[in-house]
Amino acid sequence: MADLLSIILAAGEGTRMKSALPKVLHPVGGLPVVSHVLRTAKSFGSRIAVVVGPGHEAVEQAVTRFESNAFIARQLERLGTGHAVQQAREAFQNETGNVLVLYADTPLVTEKTIGQIVGRLDAGADMVVVGFRPHNPTGYGRLLTDGNRLLAIREHKDASDEERRVGLCNSGIIAFNADTLRAVIDRIDNKNAKGEYYLTDAVELAVADKRQIDYIEADASELVGVDNRTKLAEAEATFQQFKRAEMMENGVTLRDPQSVFFSWDTECGRDVTIFPNVVFGPGVKIADNVEIRAFCDLEDVVIGDGASIGPFARVRGGAELGKDVHVGNFVEVKKSKLADGVKVGHLSYLGDAEIGAKTNIGAGTITCNYDGVNKDKTVIGANAFIGSNASLVAPVVIGDGAYTASGSVITEDVPADAVAFGRARQENKADYAPKLRERALAKKAAKGK
Ligand code: UD1
Repeated sequence: MADLLSIILAAGEGTRMKSALPKVLHPVGGLPVVSHVLRTAKSFGSRIAVVVGPGHEAVEQAVTRFESNAFIARQLERLGTGHAVQQAREAFQNETGNVLVLYADTPLVTEKTIGQIVGRLDAGADMVVVGFRPHNPTGYGRLLTDGNRLLAIREHKDASDEERRVGLCNSGIIAFNADTLRAVIDRIDNKNAKGEYYLTDAVELAVADKRQIDYIEADASELVGVDNRTKLAEAEATFQQFKRAEMMENGVTLRDPQSVFFSWDTECGRDVTIFPNVVFGPGVKIADNVEIRAFCDLEDVVIGDGASIGPFARVRGGAELGKDVHVGNFVEVKKSKLADGVKVGHLSYLGDAEIGAKTNIGAGTITCNYDGVNKDKTVIGANAFIGSNASLVAPVVIGDGAYTASGSVITEDVPADAVAFGRARQENKADYAPKLRERALAKKAAKGK
């Protein structure tokens, strides 16, 4: 494959999002829209140039965080897509390979589609346009062909009634060999209905130069442009469809696919079963044979082979769960390491904890990890047994094989194999109950007078 430079256009204003956040930083599958585009470009080993508008420092930062040596071009006035590409001239001036123009607000274009157009360039085309058939073509540029070759792209505002009847539209994604781009880019003018420099005019100019122009047709679902909240929701829905399909293809059972929401980076092994209504935030890695029961919220956690989570569990903050760990209902685990075979079955909070293999955490155990200022650690050894309804006040260390009595407030370290009682001792007063009852009845009778 020839060298590739991707120019990502991101200077649009995004006013229809009605947001303080630039539109390309809104997340789809937990990842900013522009980062999806960067990832796709990078998967072809491409160099990256991004065209940003004034006041888009946050976009610049997001891009350079992703790709520290990305070329940032600034488009000070929004004069059209052709003008935007011109601003990146420094990046393509000496390019000997191919140049791919992508939109920063079109996150779901697949590697397959990009592979196809880049492949056509490598096979000798000078320029390849990605077309699609949107449900409603109004507003899009139309691909005018002779049935075989692409002759022009006509913008909606400039199109005749007959041209507007064409259903095949321009997605905006166009690949050029660098020579062709350099030959046409400065000849684009702004004599059109919008008074803008249209990148799409490159087609007619290249046709006039007798260059070889191709187009392909891609599925409309991957070409949704996120420029309002409805489109954002549409992109999210499509992303989830893609991700669910990928998971199932890789051996994951989804009991009710429509109710499981993945993050862009969710990783699942084989024979994982995910019950309905599970939401994944970023950073979840799941090994084989894991069961995630209904209504779990997982983020930033590594889960070992054979573990079972939920229902109604929340696990987050860099948690590490070993093999065969069981995290049951109404349990929250934050930034804690649970070694192989740890069980925390019911109604517990484990925060900033380290728990040794096969330890059992009783129902209602709470690690008191925060004093209002500092976060402290709770360390529990292997094969320990924490009785139900314990408060473990961090920092505290409980040794291997130790027990803590139910209802204890543990404020001091517990040595290995010790039993800690952190509660008042029980006292039974013989025959005292009838006296208490009498006293209560007398009180009631006195009130009644
Ligand atoms: C453009 C295409 C149209 C296509 C449509 C697909 C042109 C002239 N028209 O329409 O054929 O059907 O996309 O969505 O190319 N941008 C800049 N600077 C600018 C203008 C745009 O960076 O001066 C960027 C935007 O951030 C966005 C992309 O280019 O990522 C498309 O801009 P937009 O205004 O949405 O598209 P149109 O020009 O209307």
